[in-house]
Amino acid sequence: MMPSHSIRSQQDHEKLSRQASHKDPLVRKEYWLSLAKEYQWRKFPTQSLEGSFEGGDVRWFSDGHLNITENMLDRHLPLLADHVALHFIPNQEGAERRNITYQELFQSVNRWSKMFQSLDLKANDVVCLYMPHIPELAFAMLACARLGLVHSVVFGGFSAQALRSRIIDAECKLVVTCDGSYRGDKYVDYKNIVDVALTSLSESESESENEIENKILSKVKHVLIHDHTKKPISLVKGRDLLISEELKKIPMDTVVKAVDRKAEDPLFILYTSGSTGKPKGLLHTTGGYMVWAGWTMREVFQLRNDSLFWCTADAGWITGHSYVIYGPLLNGITSVMYEGIPTYPSADRFWKIIEELKVTHFYTAPTAIRGLESLGDEFPKHYAMDSLQVCGSVGEPINLEAWEWLKKWVAKERCPIVDTWWQTETGGIMITNVAGITPEIPTKATLPLPGVQAILLDEKGNQATREGTLCLSHPWPGMARTIYGDHTRYRENYFKAYPGFYFTGDAAECNERGEYRILGRMDDVINVSGHRIGTAEVENVINESHFIVESAVVGAPHDIKGECLWAFAVYQQHEGVSIMKPIQELLIEVNQLLTKQIGAIAKLDRLIMVPQLPKTRSGKIMRRFLRKLSQGEKDLKKLGDVSTLTNPEIIEEISKLI
Ligand code: PRX
Repeated sequence: MMPSHSIRSQQDHEKLSRQASHKDPLVRKEYWLSLAKEYQWRKFPTQSLEGSFEGGDVRWFSDGHLNITENMLDRHLPLLADHVALHFIPNQEGAERRNITYQELFQSVNRWSKMFQSLDLKANDVVCLYMPHIPELAFAMLACARLGLVHSVVFGGFSAQALRSRIIDAECKLVVTCDGSYRGDKYVDYKNIVDVALTSLSESESESENEIENKILSKVKHVLIHDHTKKPISLVKGRDLLISEELKKIPMDTVVKAVDRKAEDPLFILYTSGSTGKPKGLLHTTGGYMVWAGWTMREVFQLRNDSLFWCTADAGWITGHSYVIYGPLLNGITSVMYEGIPTYPSADRFWKIIEELKVTHFYTAPTAIRGLESLGDEFPKHYAMDSLQVCGSVGEPINLEAWEWLKKWVAKERCPIVDTWWQTETGGIMITNVAGITPEIPTKATLPLPGVQAILLDEKGNQATREGTLCLSHPWPGMARTIYGDHTRYRENYFKAYPGFYFTGDAAECNERGEYRILGRMDDVINVSGHRIGTAEVENVINESHFIVESAVVGAPHDIKGECLWAFAVYQQHEGVSIMKPIQELLIEVNQLLTKQIGAIAKLDRLIMVPQLPKTRSGKIMRRFLRKLSQGEKDLKKLGDVSTLTNPEIIEEISKLI
């Protein structure tokens, strides 16, 4: 029987949109509760939405009880016991692949749960997962969810300092990691990075802040280590535990009772960059996230029981959470987990995997497409990839050239491409075409999904007709409920700019048919290779250089990354004289600082030393002008009104330095 909220035609899309956004709250309630019915609840909710954007507090299905892992594992047994849940492809071609069935996944998650249970953790404790993209990461995420622990996955590309600040912010009680792993031919020394992250700051440096941080870090009683590469590692006595040793104590057929969770109990925290310096730990809760991740996955991609879904994102990002782990397993399909990179050992690795596994759905990022496109058509040309049914794009605007390349060489003019717009905050896809059902328009995300109410607003908060700030006017179940530990920041960040609306931070245009094209970020967030990087976060690090007094970071166009980071900076002065250093040397030094404090993803492509930064009378740096210059604007008259600057003449000077 077809589930009641399936989209099999444009009429279905329209009908569901009408119901989900009906002006009668009872119709809306009925819509959401009947969607929730598709899942297994311990106590079915009687409430759908409570609260509003005005108050900045939203709850969904709040009197419902469930455990999400019962919906991802137990529910599928015994029917899907032998069906592959995770298909793992290691980085090294030729290394052993793993087919993990639902039964085996159930078993592993239960044994991992048992292992966590022995570590003196209590419900809602936060567990930091700093791991490569391997099945053990999925085991750890689901073991947390089974026990009511909150996972906080930190992407392996982040440095020890970035990891440390995330462990401290979430006050983690346990860290799970591995010895190390290869991505391409680059070795990431996970265990060592964790050791550095957990090292107490020395007393000599110690201000009260260090003491507080040390105290929080001391709450990490254990580090669990998976021996992924089997390279020798040193263990910290009393703290470090080898997972292989711990699991030896746990029988294979161990079953751990899933903990009863209320729908609004936290499920996970995921950090993302915002426009101020400190990364935000967005908190997602259990019931609403489950419904949204599960339903969007099924409908947007038009899954079938035999779908073999490959989302190339790392589970360290929201895309991996929702469409490598939660979404596929909620739907009982097979998800591919690939540890490596698109070009290793050669640029046809993706296409080979698609063909060998008979992947049906391929979901990736424009930056990967552009990177592969730049290496030539030769690579995908030799692969028929005739198992593919749907291709998808996510993470940044997809330019026409990349879209057409994907359509021609991968989709082979045969498969629909879905361009899915969403965010860490939204939990799941929000604006997209539905594969093969609603119109596909190159470079446009097109229509909001049923239940998503998008609107464009102008600077004054009035509805804009063609182009404006993309806002959402009604809550949806998958939205993040707060910024962990800082609800005020959550309210200010998302609901203050346009009272009554959720502010996405993106600009968009929309035509008379209600089809959206996302234009990109309009706040101080830069999207580099589909990863969000906050300008303030990067500037704070650059300003630590002895040679730099202040800086402004902007996004400049980049053929492959979409955007890259440029910094405009001012030399430090000593008694009125600038302390200079050759620019290339300084760039290397600054990039080393950024790699150490944030990670290699925050490296600058260009550093431009300028006499002054453009500033308003109140001292605010006007990045807007610098952004336009870095985007190649030569006509200074087109930069906008510079009369609000205290130093308008600096613009011309800077333009000559680019
Ligand atoms: O600017 C939008 C861009 O990525 C931002 C969200 O980034 P993040 O929270 O890291 O999540 C990425 C994966 C969901 C958005 O504010 N973005 C995401 N998808 C698209 C996009 N821009 C244009 N088109 C998209 N399809």
